[in-house]
Amino acid sequence: MKDNKLGRNSLCPCGSGKKYKKCCLNKPFKKFSKPLSLKERYFKDYKIRLKNSKDIEMIKKAGKLVIETLNLIESELQAGMTTNDIDIIVRNHFKKKGAKAATLDYMGYPKNSCVSVNNVICHGIPDSTVIKNGDIVNVDITPIYNGYLADANKTFFVGDPGPEAKKIVSVSKQCLKLGMEVVKPGNTIGDIGWVIQNYAQRQGCSVVEDYVGHGVGFEFHEAPQVPHFGKKGAGIKLIPGMVFTIEPMINLGRKDVVVLKDEWTAVTKDNSLSAQFEQTIYVTKNGYESLTPFNI
Ligand code: MF3
Ligand code: CO
Ligand code: CO
Repeated sequence: MKDNKLGRNSLCPCGSGKKYKKCCLNKPFKKFSKPLSLKERYFKDYKIRLKNSKDIEMIKKAGKLVIETLNLIESELQAGMTTNDIDIIVRNHFKKKGAKAATLDYMGYPKNSCVSVNNVICHGIPDSTVIKNGDIVNVDITPIYNGYLADANKTFFVGDPGPEAKKIVSVSKQCLKLGMEVVKPGNTIGDIGWVIQNYAQRQGCSVVEDYVGHGVGFEFHEAPQVPHFGKKGAGIKLIPGMVFTIEPMINLGRKDVVVLKDEWTAVTKDNSLSAQFEQTIYVTKNGYESLTPFNI
């Protein structure tokens, strides 16, 4: 029987035609090391940390807390409250459950939530601003719960919404829905952005490009970035185990953003209304599952 063992004088398996000792012997990982697993490759190429089934269970628990807290806010929200009153509801509920807000002290951010009213696109800092009848109020929260994170937000009506408020809330909600529906292995991150941008623009609205969705679960903002605009088939291929947010910010007017002096609050440059919905999405074998599910 022929001895196939690789010796110093064998032909190098890299195909160079040289002897192994003169070629790859001293650079063993170069040409024929064990191929990387998909998990290793996604980390090496994209810094994406895939989640296993235990991770998913833990993120789901954080997701339940997010939804429970958003529901609590919805039940208490009314004209006359301040945006800081909402932050206090979040703080107290997280505290009761033994969770911490990921936003608190995140790159200097001072609160437990982002509360973005009317023309505020995102990252509104809760303060003494009084919420009025007819306002649209986005509340975005992210607990760290048993070491895992889930991120979601919703835009609420206060009292009786006007036609513009109704329109921007409906379009932004539909954008999230359409984005989620194209999540399945084999599709790409560009497919998500494309469906969102295509729908928003057909409705005469614009997609904010300065802020994007993101990987989440172990940390607040992980790879990959998930733009809400893009081209069909472009970008990273989705594979099972990826967990990321989709969180389109849609403006009734133009897409341009101005960040206020507090260095956080992002408003529309043309002062038009802006709305947003966000969920944390897990790519499964056949499609997706939301880890922060709510009806849209
Ligand atoms: N929750 C936001 C997101 O969806 C991020 C808020 S960062 C903060 O990614 F510092 F402004 F809170
Ligand atoms: Co997010
Ligand atoms: Co968020």
